[in-house]
Amino acid sequence: MKIVTILGARPQFIKAGSVSREIGKLRDRGENIQEVLVHTGQHYDANMSDVFFEEMRIPKPDYFLGIGGKSHGEMTGQMIEKIEKVLINETPDWVLVYGDTNSTLAGAIAASKLKIKIAHVEAGLRSYNMAMPEEINRILTDRISNALFCPTQKAMDNINSEAYKEWNFSTEAYLCGDVMLDGALFYKKLSQKPTDLKVDRKFVLCTLHRAENTDDINRISQIIDALSIIAQEVDVILPLHPRTKKVIEKFGLNTDKLVIIDPVGYLNMVWLIDNCKLVMTDSGGLQKEAFFFGKHCLTMRDETEWVELVDNGFNILVGASKDQILKNYYSADFNNDFSINLYGDGKASYSIIKTLQKYQFGKLIHD
Ligand code: UD1
Ligand code: UDP
Repeated sequence: MKIVTILGARPQFIKAGSVSREIGKLRDRGENIQEVLVHTGQHYDANMSDVFFEEMRIPKPDYFLGIGGKSHGEMTGQMIEKIEKVLINETPDWVLVYGDTNSTLAGAIAASKLKIKIAHVEAGLRSYNMAMPEEINRILTDRISNALFCPTQKAMDNINSEAYKEWNFSTEAYLCGDVMLDGALFYKKLSQKPTDLKVDRKFVLCTLHRAENTDDINRISQIIDALSIIAQEVDVILPLHPRTKKVIEKFGLNTDKLVIIDPVGYLNMVWLIDNCKLVMTDSGGLQKEAFFFGKHCLTMRDETEWVELVDNGFNILVGASKDQILKNYYSADFNNDFSINLYGDGKASYSIIKTLQKYQFGKLIHD
């Protein structure tokens, strides 16, 4: 079985790291399985890309397309064109895509035009906010995929409610658990404190990059104001995404009270999550990682795809109003019992590859 994996953005390196490791193990055991890695170049700074390949021992990409820092249409269009050439050259059995970025959509469209089977990891997630570029990317990708790997029961329910079978008889959805849990469990024991970071007191770990916050000066200003007030009593450590850095510089926002650091690699990130008092974020992946490490999360968005975290009292949606953020920071009533299983058994990657191996000529061969 030959898989072409399409990657491009930070969360995809982290997700694919676990699946590539599983593929490597199966190959070492003599199974006939080959993975070709295509890096679109969507994220390109060393600390947004190379560091993950090095630390997580992800094989060096076979193709690097160098398409980053462009408008959505230009980026996605150029990716489709270049990925198509790779697929014609490689003739894989599967194209494997992750999540909801422009790289995900480009990989899926290029494969669908060539009638190559598509596997979508993190299928079925919905925010029901069509203003998010990610929502468009994930819905379109799900629609043209053949194997939909759903991390949660809610994601399965979403797929089942969208009449996939009526549209595409070759689509199958699987509840496989979350590949990010595989990674969190594996890397926990390898985590490292960021070398130059001074940590003298309790800290809140914060990340911010979501377009709906960074592209709205009112939202980003209120978030920074709220974080600056919180920073009077605890350190607020903010590994700064390049997108947010540009906005802070452009509008001259005052971040003096915050501990701003460059984006960190995954081993440092796991240490920060494991040692923080609370996570405050607009990231998708970090909401789940907070839960994996027994931490509560305030999500600075108006909705989330990871609704089970909110429903079970581990995460609160606080939007981007300063008052709402502060009110919840000081008086949130969280659930402290993290024993519930929401994301599977940490073996999602294995289950995904084994499922792909059971397909033959477009049909799933059941045991
Ligand atoms: C993208 C994804 C988002 C995901 C996020 C993960 C889309 C539509 N969005 O958002 O779903 O949550 O990645 O982090 O695909 N930049 C750099 N250096 C880099 C990477 C980006 O300077 O290494 C700059 C770009 O030039 C651009 C900005 O950051 O100006 C945004 O990058 P882009 O990849 O378009 O979107 P993200 O906000 O990173
Ligand atoms: N992350 C990281 N270093 C950082 C910030 C985030 O390794 O400086 C990790 C984080 O732990 C999670 C992933 O990046 O595994 C989430 O990526 P991001 O927030 O960029 O994207 P999203 O999940 O929102 O799509």
